[in-house]
Amino acid sequence: MEAVSTMCLYLSQAPDAALLSLLKARFGKVEAVASVAAAAKVLKTQRPAVALLDLGSEALASEQRTLEDCLLHTHVGWVALLDDERLREPAVRRLINQYCLDYLIAPRSHEQILGSLTQAQRMVEIAADPPLPADDTMVGNSDAMQRLFRTISKVASTSAPVFISGESGTGKELTALAIHRRSARRDGPFVAINCGAIPQSLMQSELFGYERGAFTGANQRRIGKVAAAHKGTLFLDEIGDLPMDSQASLLRFLQEGQIDPLGSAEPVSVDVRVISATHVDTDRAIAANRFRSDLYHRLCVLRIDEPPLRARGADIELLANHMLERFRSESSRRLRGFSSGAIEALYNYDWPGNVRELINRVRRAVVMAEGRVITAEDLELTGWTTEKPLTLAEAREQAEQLAVQRALRRHRNRLNEAAQELGVSRVTLYRLMGAQRARQLPEGEEAFVEPPPIAANISNR
Ligand SMILES: Nc1ncnc2c1ncn2[C@@H]1O[C@H](COP(=O)(O)OP(=O)(O)OP(=O)(O)O)[C@@H](O)[C@H]1O
Ligand SMILES: [Mg+2]
Repeated sequence: MEAVSTMCLYLSQAPDAALLSLLKARFGKVEAVASVAAAAKVLKTQRPAVALLDLGSEALASEQRTLEDCLLHTHVGWVALLDDERLREPAVRRLINQYCLDYLIAPRSHEQILGSLTQAQRMVEIAADPPLPADDTMVGNSDAMQRLFRTISKVASTSAPVFISGESGTGKELTALAIHRRSARRDGPFVAINCGAIPQSLMQSELFGYERGAFTGANQRRIGKVAAAHKGTLFLDEIGDLPMDSQASLLRFLQEGQIDPLGSAEPVSVDVRVISATHVDTDRAIAANRFRSDLYHRLCVLRIDEPPLRARGADIELLANHMLERFRSESSRRLRGFSSGAIEALYNYDWPGNVRELINRVRRAVVMAEGRVITAEDLELTGWTTEKPLTLAEAREQAEQLAVQRALRRHRNRLNEAAQELGVSRVTLYRLMGAQRARQLPEGEEAFVEPPPIAANISNR
């Protein structure tokens, strides 16, 4: 597949002219800059797909802080070019490890550099979720989901801000959409913005927009997401990642119902219902001064906790069957369903990625299955069936690990509280956690034996 041509940023104090013209040919547009400050300026207004970071000179590496701010633009695929000696510096190693998709030890051929950048571009492209066939039905029959559906109906009848917390992939966005579709604003827009995916420097204009001529390069007026949601619902996803200055502006908007687009003489009144969501621990973020508590209290008038998939009992099987129906047509075989081993594995697995992970596993299994039924191997969950009988010592150990995991989850990884609940010291808990990481044991949760009941779903149509 030929990758799409997109912009490349080339940061070097001694740019290679031949390489530059090759980059132009390959990516269409190249911005060559000689300083970290110049790179930061480019990143403020443009969105390169990839960036080649030539760390060859002393000066660049010394601008560590600004450089790190640049590298924080994680939608850019960064590739570093440096020599052996520079690679030995701990700070440089950390930067590369944290932010770069690849690094090359100079000297390298132009071909190798282009190859690495192309690969980085591919990685950036797949970072977005694969497009799924539209289906926004919320499946769930467990007590936890029935409670959630009742809550959705209740909060839909008001216009108060809703705050949704829950692990990644549990259905926070789907819940936000369900609330919107059941509310009096259903005919208005539903505008979602992922605060974690937008570079910090673009956040203000993304949220509040700007007037033509507000800054160099603002050739046209731009309506921000807040104004675009007028008379509808604004969904602020990953609100925990919102930069501090945007938190202040958002708070002002929530208090006054008005926004100040950059370059605008007058504030603009906007009528939106705000729903926000995050998977981060807001108590911690507030304690660490990363999140304003006054903003949190404004956003969290009504709170919804999305249950993790592992706490939804027979819904796991219900969802797996639902997804099998959804993706059945992608298989060349007439699949009958899941093998008993697959069902057992579905229940025993911990589902850290929740419903999203289940969707991905079932979709892949539908394509990969070679028989008439989907097996645990097709789901890549082979370690999660408990065919082998356990010794008493193994069973004890698994029960211990399970108790540790549950206590940590219940207390959102707050060690003191988890240790207290388990009746052990913090040191002992640390040791148990270390043992767990070392062994990577499957969580031996009990299998549910009942067949799933008929689905009582909530449709978003
Ligand atoms: N109860 C459900 N029934 C059917 N599909 C669901 C359900 N919950 C979530 N999904 C699907 O799972 C995927 C993840 O859901 P969603 O994007 O709403 O999760 P999220 O909590 O916002 O995740 P993240 O924290 O990663 O942003 C979506 O494809 C969504 O349609
Ligand atoms: Mg989401």
